[in-house]
Amino acid sequence: MAKIIGGYFTSHVPGIGGAIMRGDQETPYWKPFFAGFPPIREWLAEARPDVAVVFSNDHGLNFFLDKMPTFAVGAAPSYDNADEGWGLPVYKSFEGHPALSWHLIDSLVRDEFDITTCQKMLVDHAVSIPFELAYPGVESWPLKLIPLAINTVQYPLPSPKRCLALGRAVHRALQSWGGDERILICGTGGLSHQLDGPRAGFMNPDYDMFCLDNLAANPDALTGHTAEQVAELAGTQGVEILNWIAARGAMGDVPLAEVSRNYHIPISNTAAASLLLEPA
Ligand code: DHB
Ligand code: FE
Repeated sequence: MAKIIGGYFTSHVPGIGGAIMRGDQETPYWKPFFAGFPPIREWLAEARPDVAVVFSNDHGLNFFLDKMPTFAVGAAPSYDNADEGWGLPVYKSFEGHPALSWHLIDSLVRDEFDITTCQKMLVDHAVSIPFELAYPGVESWPLKLIPLAINTVQYPLPSPKRCLALGRAVHRALQSWGGDERILICGTGGLSHQLDGPRAGFMNPDYDMFCLDNLAANPDALTGHTAEQVAELAGTQGVEILNWIAARGAMGDVPLAEVSRNYHIPISNTAAASLLLEPA
Protein backbone atom coordinates (compact mmCIF):
# COMPACT_ATOMS: atom_id res chain seq x y z
CA MET A 1 0.00 0.00 0.00
CA ALA A 2 1.17 3.52 -0.72
CA LYS A 3 2.47 5.24 2.38
CA ILE A 4 2.10 8.88 3.41
CA ILE A 5 5.50 9.53 4.92
CA GLY A 6 5.25 13.20 5.85
CA GLY A 7 4.01 16.70 5.26
CA TYR A 8 6.22 19.55 4.08
CA PHE A 9 4.82 23.07 4.39
CA THR A 10 6.58 26.24 3.28
CA SER A 11 6.10 29.81 2.13
CA HIS A 12 6.73 30.33 -1.60
CA VAL A 13 7.72 34.00 -1.94
CA PRO A 14 9.26 34.62 -5.43
CA GLY A 15 12.10 36.63 -3.81
CA ILE A 16 13.40 33.32 -2.38
CA GLY A 17 14.14 32.26 -5.97
CA GLY A 18 16.10 35.49 -6.49
CA ALA A 19 18.09 34.87 -3.30
CA ILE A 20 18.93 31.33 -4.46
CA MET A 21 20.04 32.66 -7.88
CA ARG A 22 22.30 35.26 -6.28
CA GLY A 23 23.63 32.82 -3.66
CA ASP A 24 22.36 35.05 -0.84
CA GLN A 25 21.42 32.22 1.52
CA GLU A 26 23.99 33.22 4.15
CA THR A 27 23.42 36.98 4.08
CA PRO A 28 21.88 38.53 7.23
CA TYR A 29 18.55 39.18 5.51
CA TRP A 30 18.11 35.62 4.19
CA LYS A 31 19.96 33.42 6.67
CA PRO A 32 17.15 33.17 9.27
CA PHE A 33 14.78 31.95 6.54
CA PHE A 34 17.12 29.44 4.86
CA ALA A 35 18.07 28.11 8.32
CA GLY A 36 14.74 26.27 8.33
CA PHE A 37 15.70 23.95 5.48
CA PRO A 38 18.73 21.80 6.43
CA PRO A 39 16.59 19.60 8.75
CA ILE A 40 13.98 19.23 6.00
CA ARG A 41 16.65 18.25 3.44
CA GLU A 42 18.18 15.71 5.83
CA TRP A 43 14.79 14.19 6.53
CA LEU A 44 13.98 14.00 2.79
CA ALA A 45 17.33 12.34 2.03
CA GLU A 46 16.43 9.63 4.54
CA ALA A 47 12.70 9.38 3.77
CA ARG A 48 13.07 9.31 -0.03
CA PRO A 49 9.53 10.16 -1.19
CA ASP A 50 8.55 8.93 -4.69
CA VAL A 51 5.61 11.26 -5.22
CA ALA A 52 4.68 14.72 -3.96
CA VAL A 53 1.01 15.68 -3.71
CA VAL A 54 1.24 19.46 -3.64
CA PHE A 55 -1.51 21.89 -2.63
CA SER A 56 -0.77 25.40 -3.83
CA ASN A 57 -2.38 28.29 -5.65
CA ASP A 58 -1.83 29.31 -9.23
CA HIS A 59 -0.61 32.92 -9.64
CA GLY A 60 -1.72 33.44 -13.26
CA LEU A 61 0.18 30.85 -15.29
CA ASN A 62 -2.84 28.53 -15.70
CA PHE A 63 -5.88 30.45 -14.52
CA PHE A 64 -6.65 34.13 -14.55
CA LEU A 65 -9.57 36.17 -13.30
CA ASP A 66 -11.60 35.19 -16.36
CA LYS A 67 -11.52 31.46 -15.48
CA MET A 68 -10.86 30.38 -11.92
CA PRO A 69 -11.53 26.85 -10.71
CA THR A 70 -12.06 26.54 -6.95
CA PHE A 71 -10.16 23.25 -6.88
CA ALA A 72 -8.08 21.89 -9.80
CA VAL A 73 -6.16 18.62 -9.98
CA GLY A 74 -3.28 17.98 -12.37
CA ALA A 75 -3.39 14.80 -14.46
CA ALA A 76 -0.55 15.61 -16.84
CA PRO A 77 2.41 13.41 -17.77
CA SER A 78 4.70 16.34 -16.96
CA TYR A 79 4.52 19.88 -15.59
CA ASP A 80 6.69 22.63 -17.02
CA ASN A 81 7.55 25.82 -15.21
CA ALA A 82 7.31 28.99 -17.36
CA ASP A 83 8.46 32.58 -17.25
CA GLU A 84 6.12 34.34 -14.83
CA GLY A 85 8.15 37.50 -14.28
CA TRP A 86 9.67 38.38 -10.87
CA GLY A 87 13.09 37.98 -12.61
CA LEU A 88 12.96 34.26 -11.83
CA PRO A 89 14.71 31.61 -13.94
CA VAL A 90 12.59 28.99 -15.68
CA TYR A 91 12.87 25.98 -13.38
CA LYS A 92 13.15 22.26 -14.14
CA SER A 93 10.03 20.39 -15.26
CA PHE A 94 8.38 17.80 -13.04
CA GLU A 95 7.42 14.31 -14.11
CA GLY A 96 3.75 13.60 -13.36
CA HIS A 97 1.98 10.44 -12.22
CA PRO A 98 -1.14 10.34 -14.42
CA ALA A 99 -2.38 6.98 -13.10
CA LEU A 100 -2.40 8.20 -9.51
CA SER A 101 -3.80 11.58 -10.60
CA TRP A 102 -6.74 9.87 -12.27
CA HIS A 103 -7.29 7.68 -9.24
CA LEU A 104 -7.39 10.85 -7.10
CA ILE A 105 -9.75 12.58 -9.52
CA ASP A 106 -12.06 9.58 -9.70
CA SER A 107 -12.13 9.21 -5.93
CA LEU A 108 -12.67 12.97 -5.32
CA VAL A 109 -15.58 13.14 -7.75
CA ARG A 110 -17.20 10.03 -6.18
CA ASP A 111 -16.69 11.84 -2.87
CA GLU A 112 -18.71 14.76 -4.37
CA PHE A 113 -15.86 17.26 -4.86
CA ASP A 114 -16.59 19.01 -8.17
CA ILE A 115 -13.00 19.57 -9.21
CA THR A 116 -11.48 20.78 -12.47
CA THR A 117 -9.27 18.19 -14.18
CA CYS A 118 -6.14 19.51 -15.88
CA GLN A 119 -4.40 17.28 -18.41
CA LYS A 120 -2.14 20.23 -19.17
CA MET A 121 -0.83 22.35 -16.33
CA LEU A 122 2.11 24.64 -15.70
CA VAL A 123 3.68 25.12 -12.29
CA ASP A 124 4.78 28.49 -10.95
CA HIS A 125 6.93 29.67 -8.03
CA ALA A 126 4.41 28.15 -5.62
CA VAL A 127 5.62 24.67 -6.64
CA SER A 128 9.12 25.22 -8.02
CA ILE A 129 10.56 27.26 -5.13
CA PRO A 130 9.54 24.80 -2.38
CA PHE A 131 11.34 22.01 -4.30
CA GLU A 132 14.37 24.20 -5.06
CA LEU A 133 14.53 24.75 -1.28
CA ALA A 134 14.11 21.04 -0.54
CA TYR A 135 16.49 19.70 -3.18
CA PRO A 136 18.90 22.56 -3.95
CA GLY A 137 20.75 22.28 -7.23
CA VAL A 138 19.59 18.75 -8.19
CA GLU A 139 19.83 17.95 -11.88
CA SER A 140 16.30 16.49 -11.99
CA TRP A 141 13.61 16.31 -9.32
CA PRO A 142 13.87 12.98 -7.47
CA LEU A 143 10.08 12.58 -7.18
CA LYS A 144 6.94 12.77 -9.29
CA LEU A 145 4.39 15.53 -8.89
CA ILE A 146 0.64 15.68 -8.46
CA PRO A 147 -0.36 19.35 -8.20
CA LEU A 148 -3.66 20.49 -6.71
CA ALA A 149 -4.51 24.16 -7.14
CA ILE A 150 -6.82 25.94 -4.70
CA ASN A 151 -8.32 29.31 -5.57
CA THR A 152 -6.87 31.80 -3.08
CA VAL A 153 -7.11 34.68 -5.56
CA GLN A 154 -10.60 35.40 -6.92
CA TYR A 155 -13.53 35.79 -4.51
CA PRO A 156 -15.50 33.85 -3.43
CA LEU A 157 -12.78 31.60 -1.98
CA PRO A 158 -13.39 28.13 -0.58
CA SER A 159 -13.72 28.04 3.22
CA PRO A 160 -11.02 26.60 5.48
CA LYS A 161 -13.57 23.90 6.41
CA ARG A 162 -14.04 22.92 2.77
CA CYS A 163 -10.27 22.88 2.16
CA LEU A 164 -9.72 20.59 5.15
CA ALA A 165 -12.50 18.34 3.84
CA LEU A 166 -10.86 18.31 0.38
CA GLY A 167 -7.58 17.26 1.98
CA ARG A 168 -9.29 14.49 3.95
CA ALA A 169 -10.90 13.27 0.71
CA VAL A 170 -7.44 13.22 -0.90
CA HIS A 171 -6.26 11.14 2.07
CA ARG A 172 -9.07 8.62 1.52
CA ALA A 173 -8.14 8.46 -2.18
CA LEU A 174 -4.49 7.80 -1.38
CA GLN A 175 -5.48 5.04 1.04
CA SER A 176 -7.41 3.24 -1.67
CA TRP A 177 -4.56 3.42 -4.21
CA GLY A 178 -2.97 0.06 -4.94
CA GLY A 179 0.59 1.29 -5.57
CA ASP A 180 3.48 1.16 -3.13
CA GLU A 181 4.72 4.76 -3.51
CA ARG A 182 6.14 6.76 -0.63
CA ILE A 183 4.06 9.92 -0.70
CA LEU A 184 5.01 13.38 0.55
CA ILE A 185 2.16 15.84 1.11
CA CYS A 186 3.03 19.50 0.57
CA GLY A 187 1.23 22.76 1.27
CA THR A 188 2.78 26.02 0.04
CA GLY A 189 2.21 29.75 0.49
CA GLY A 190 1.53 31.97 3.48
CA LEU A 191 1.94 32.68 6.18
CA SER A 192 0.37 36.10 6.76
CA HIS A 193 0.92 38.62 3.98
CA GLN A 194 -0.88 41.27 2.02
CA LEU A 195 0.63 42.58 -1.21
CA ASP A 196 -1.90 45.22 -2.20
CA GLY A 197 -4.38 47.82 -1.02
CA PRO A 198 -4.23 50.10 2.02
CA ARG A 199 -3.07 47.22 4.23
CA ALA A 200 -0.14 46.24 1.93
CA GLY A 201 2.65 44.94 4.13
CA PHE A 202 0.21 43.64 6.78
CA MET A 203 1.37 40.57 8.74
CA ASN A 204 -0.11 38.93 11.83
CA PRO A 205 2.26 36.81 13.95
CA ASP A 206 -0.56 35.97 16.41
CA TYR A 207 -2.67 34.32 13.73
CA ASP A 208 0.42 32.67 12.20
CA MET A 209 1.29 31.16 15.60
CA PHE A 210 -2.29 30.00 16.04
CA CYS A 211 -2.00 28.17 12.69
CA LEU A 212 1.45 26.70 13.37
CA ASP A 213 0.43 25.55 16.86
CA ASN A 214 -2.82 23.88 15.79
CA LEU A 215 -2.15 22.54 12.30
CA ALA A 216 -0.74 19.18 13.41
CA ALA A 217 -2.82 18.29 16.46
CA ASN A 218 -6.07 20.18 15.92
CA PRO A 219 -6.52 21.25 12.28
CA ASP A 220 -10.24 21.69 12.83
CA ALA A 221 -9.36 24.73 14.98
CA LEU A 222 -8.39 26.49 11.73
CA THR A 223 -11.85 25.95 10.27
CA GLY A 224 -13.61 28.22 12.75
CA HIS A 225 -13.06 31.18 10.42
CA THR A 226 -14.68 31.98 7.09
CA ALA A 227 -12.37 32.66 4.13
CA GLU A 228 -13.18 36.37 4.55
CA GLN A 229 -12.17 36.25 8.21
CA VAL A 230 -8.90 34.54 7.20
CA ALA A 231 -8.24 37.41 4.75
CA GLU A 232 -8.85 39.83 7.63
CA LEU A 233 -6.58 37.86 9.99
CA ALA A 234 -3.82 36.77 7.58
CA GLY A 235 -4.00 39.38 4.81
CA THR A 236 -5.43 39.02 1.32
CA GLN A 237 -2.55 36.77 0.21
CA GLY A 238 -2.19 35.16 3.62
CA VAL A 239 -5.29 33.20 2.63
CA GLU A 240 -2.73 30.86 1.04
CA ILE A 241 -2.95 29.15 4.46
CA LEU A 242 -5.86 27.34 2.78
CA ASN A 243 -3.22 25.28 0.91
CA TRP A 244 -1.64 24.27 4.23
CA ILE A 245 -5.04 23.35 5.70
CA ALA A 246 -5.88 21.11 2.73
CA ALA A 247 -2.44 19.50 2.85
CA ARG A 248 -2.85 18.82 6.57
CA GLY A 249 -6.16 17.09 5.81
CA ALA A 250 -4.42 14.89 3.24
CA MET A 251 -2.06 13.61 5.94
CA GLY A 252 -5.06 11.97 7.63
CA ASP A 253 -6.41 12.12 11.15
CA VAL A 254 -3.41 10.43 12.72
CA PRO A 255 -1.09 11.70 15.47
CA LEU A 256 1.69 13.77 13.92
CA ALA A 257 5.13 14.69 15.20
CA GLU A 258 6.74 18.03 14.39
CA VAL A 259 10.15 17.31 12.84
CA SER A 260 11.04 20.95 12.25
CA ARG A 261 9.55 24.42 12.33
CA ASN A 262 10.93 27.80 11.36
CA TYR A 263 9.24 31.21 11.36
CA HIS A 264 10.76 34.49 10.28
CA ILE A 265 9.45 38.01 9.60
CA PRO A 266 9.75 39.41 6.98
CA ILE A 267 10.78 37.83 3.71
CA SER A 268 9.70 40.39 1.13
CA ASN A 269 6.14 41.19 2.30
CA THR A 270 5.57 37.84 3.94
CA ALA A 271 5.80 36.23 7.36
CA ALA A 272 7.70 33.18 6.13
CA ALA A 273 7.58 29.71 7.66
CA SER A 274 8.58 26.15 7.05
CA LEU A 275 7.18 23.12 8.84
CA LEU A 276 7.79 19.40 8.53
CA LEU A 277 5.39 16.89 10.07
CA GLU A 278 5.53 13.09 10.08
CA PRO A 279 3.21 10.39 11.39
CA ALA A 280 4.11 9.93 15.07
C1 DHB B 1 5.11 37.48 -2.27
C2 DHB B 1 4.50 36.41 -1.61
C3 DHB B 1 3.75 35.46 -2.32
O1 DHB B 1 3.11 34.40 -1.75
C4 DHB B 1 3.65 35.56 -3.71
O2 DHB B 1 2.98 34.60 -4.37
C5 DHB B 1 4.24 36.63 -4.37
C6 DHB B 1 4.98 37.58 -3.64
C7 DHB B 1 5.95 38.47 -1.53
O3 DHB B 1 5.90 38.56 -0.29
O4 DHB B 1 6.71 39.17 -2.19
FE1 FE C 1 1.76 33.37 -3.29
